[in-house]
Amino acid sequence: MKALTFKRYGKSPEIGFTDLPRPTLQPDEMLVEVHAVGLNPIDNMITTGMFKPVLKFQLPATMGSDLAGVVKEVGSRVKRFKPGDAVFASLFDLGTGSLAEYAVVPERVAAFKPANLDFVQAASVPMVALTSWQAMKERAGVRPGQKVFIPAGSGGIGTMAIQLAKHFGAKVGTTTSTANVELVRGLGADEVIDYKKQAFEKQLSGYDMALGTLKGDEIEKSIGILRAGGKIVSLVGPLDAAFATARRLNFILKFVFGLMSRKIRQLAAKQNVSFSFLFVRPDGGQLSEIGELLQAGQVRPVIDQVFPFQKACEALEYLAQGRAKGKVVVQIKPD
Ligand SMILES: NC(=O)c1ccc[n+]([C@@H]2O[C@H](COP(=O)([O-])OP(=O)(O)OC[C@H]3O[C@@H](n4cnc5c(N)ncnc54)[C@H](OP(=O)(O)O)[C@@H]3O)[C@@H](O)[C@H]2O)c1
Repeated sequence: MKALTFKRYGKSPEIGFTDLPRPTLQPDEMLVEVHAVGLNPIDNMITTGMFKPVLKFQLPATMGSDLAGVVKEVGSRVKRFKPGDAVFASLFDLGTGSLAEYAVVPERVAAFKPANLDFVQAASVPMVALTSWQAMKERAGVRPGQKVFIPAGSGGIGTMAIQLAKHFGAKVGTTTSTANVELVRGLGADEVIDYKKQAFEKQLSGYDMALGTLKGDEIEKSIGILRAGGKIVSLVGPLDAAFATARRLNFILKFVFGLMSRKIRQLAAKQNVSFSFLFVRPDGGQLSEIGELLQAGQVRPVIDQVFPFQKACEALEYLAQGRAKGKVVVQIKPD
């Protein structure tokens, strides 16, 4: 089967198409014929080697992690799915990839594809929806009436997080450039700051929670708009010691991550705000709940561009420019 792989970490990862044997299954796994793959910025970051101590791959490794497709075979212990079922899933953090004609999907990370979405739309959802759900609902416990700040509202995370925050009953503040103001308003954002014209830290205040979606000094600035007792959940680092502990990393990494996040944690503590870093985990149960919201039309995928499989490298390069409005998807098997 054809797969997009990388051969080594670093500046020349040798990304290209490889012919791999069709995978074999463990009892709790399914073989899925991949129809579409939603891309995420981390797909590009993995090849640099920056996540090598945390994410384990056997090289050459198949790239990509989100997918939608059709179950072809099931292992002997798979209970919920059967051949012919349409599913979607994130394979993030499993040491396998999705940019291939077939992928191995453990039953526990899969959910039925919402019937009202095509494969391209469904493939755009898993990582951004799971991350937003885990940050806002699980980690921060966002409640109706609370104010949530979601910077970069027009990105993959932003377009999904705004809609989920509204579903949780929150009021949403966001930042975006002039061209995307109407897009984020249409998704439900209440306070929209055009970052080309205004500084959000001078306009917003009294927020209960902020997502960290942008690197640089955006997280420091976000701390200033939170109320005492507010929470910041960063998706972009710095990594912290709690993350190292949760992943059972060695004490050296725990120490290093503790040092990396010391400054921001101290700043947060001074303002009586909590800081934590979140690393998404694949979760078929949560994805099923999100699937119900999609099916009911309460949230919808926002797609910027769809590339054919042979242009997957161009799709990754386009995403790396950081200007996508919603999601970039690679279509492997046209409907
Ligand atoms: N920790 C985790 O588990 C986890 C999971 C998922 C994602 N992430 C991380 O979360 C970050 C966001 O992911 P994503 O998928 O949303 O990325 P993305 O789709 O590539 O983000 C692109 C968007 O960012 C906007 N943007 C860029 N600079 C901006 C600025 N200064 N202010 C406001 N908006 C700005 C762009 O809008 P304009 O063109 O209008 O500027 C564009 O729409 C990435 O670093 C990703 O790796 C982490």
